Amino acid sequence: MTTAILGMQWGDEGKGKITHLLAREADMVVRYNGGPNAGHTVIDRGEKFGIHLLPVGAFYRNARCVLASGMVIDLPVLREEYDLIVDHLKWEPEIVIAENAHVILPYHKLLEELEGGGSRIGTTRRGIGPAYSDKAARVGIRAGDLLHPDRLCKKLAQKINLLKQTWPDSPEISSLSADLLAKDLLAAAEPFLGSIKNAMPIIAQALKRGDNVLFEGAQGALLDLDFGTYPFVTSSSTTLAGLGNAIGVPCPQIDCRIGVMKAYATRVGQGPFPTRVTGKLGNFLQQAGNEFGVTTGRPRGCGWLDLVALKHAVALNDPTILAITKLDVLSGLDEIKICGAYQLGERETKTFLISAEELALCEPIYESLAGWKQAIRGTTDYESLPRAARTYLERISQELQIPIGIVSTGPSPEETINIGFDRY
Ligand code: IMP
Repeated sequence: MTTAILGMQWGDEGKGKITHLLAREADMVVRYNGGPNAGHTVIDRGEKFGIHLLPVGAFYRNARCVLASGMVIDLPVLREEYDLIVDHLKWEPEIVIAENAHVILPYHKLLEELEGGGSRIGTTRRGIGPAYSDKAARVGIRAGDLLHPDRLCKKLAQKINLLKQTWPDSPEISSLSADLLAKDLLAAAEPFLGSIKNAMPIIAQALKRGDNVLFEGAQGALLDLDFGTYPFVTSSSTTLAGLGNAIGVPCPQIDCRIGVMKAYATRVGQGPFPTRVTGKLGNFLQQAGNEFGVTTGRPRGCGWLDLVALKHAVALNDPTILAITKLDVLSGLDEIKICGAYQLGERETKTFLISAEELALCEPIYESLAGWKQAIRGTTDYESLPRAARTYLERISQELQIPIGIVSTGPSPEETINIGFDRY
């Protein structure tokens, strides 16, 4: 049995909660892309966590957790997160780190500042772009290098030499030392050295055995490096299309593909966002939805649901069911708008524009639906939802032609409506 958790918007859809619900029954949870830019919010036994690197399966004894090769890993962050969870759980989750996953180093964060990625794109400033750039440029450090300290030092020295030639005027770059970096890295990685393995056969065997394997995606389809709103995207493949390559299994059979989407839209960082609303309504959504980044604390821009963008995400993720989160946040509104097309100059289009420049020129064409006043936080039964809320959900499902399996009505696992979904 295989399941994938796939973000359908610009990240922050609530994938953490859905993964946490499903991981209860999983034998293996594989996080396959991104790094500490992600912030998966999980409430485990009443305690709230913002998980950046560990697969969310770490909260359950039954789940073996794999950090797959599509990830970039910041070892001190992983160490901190692991220790926090061990303290909460009182036992040590089993993890596997793919030997070919790349490692984020302090100079990646430095480069992000020097190259201006933080301000130009509004990145999370976690060194994600520079770490993936090094991977593509074949000058990266991989987890497997940590098992060979001499090799690690040699590679670091080569990279640092290159950096010093490129940035002769940077005092931070000038002060880098390969030996010191290697020492710090190995100290942070010390508890994980036995976990660094070739993850490819481990995942492949679990799939072959028919284990219950859950793939945990990070970010969302609209932040995909190739098919998102480039250049305002992250540096990894965030979609189902990218999953196979990120784990090293050709065309993995994923029986259940859960498209996770918020009942409205949010975006953090720079880049076009056609349905963004500002003013009173924008503030309402931001406050009611607590729309502040888990990783950076930045306020997220908020807006109406964009069916044009969601249909693009459907094409990339091919979901078999939808999980709609934060429906409770919309309670109290007189009307709810939904964007079904864009106006681009003289032309009306229902096709998403993958050129960020063109998307920025699009004006949303809205349809208005009735809102509902009743608070629905914590509702667990679909029939108890106000009629207008059900109409809204049914409209989304009809437009995207995908059934809804889960509706989230609050951050806790109990605050969930299960609509005939049999996987948790
Ligand atoms: P980076 O991934 O830090 O390079 O940031 C690139 C873009 O992706 C920025 O707009 C970030 O705000 C956004 N981003 C990256 N990770 C997440 C996430 O987990 N949730 C929401 N936005 C994200």
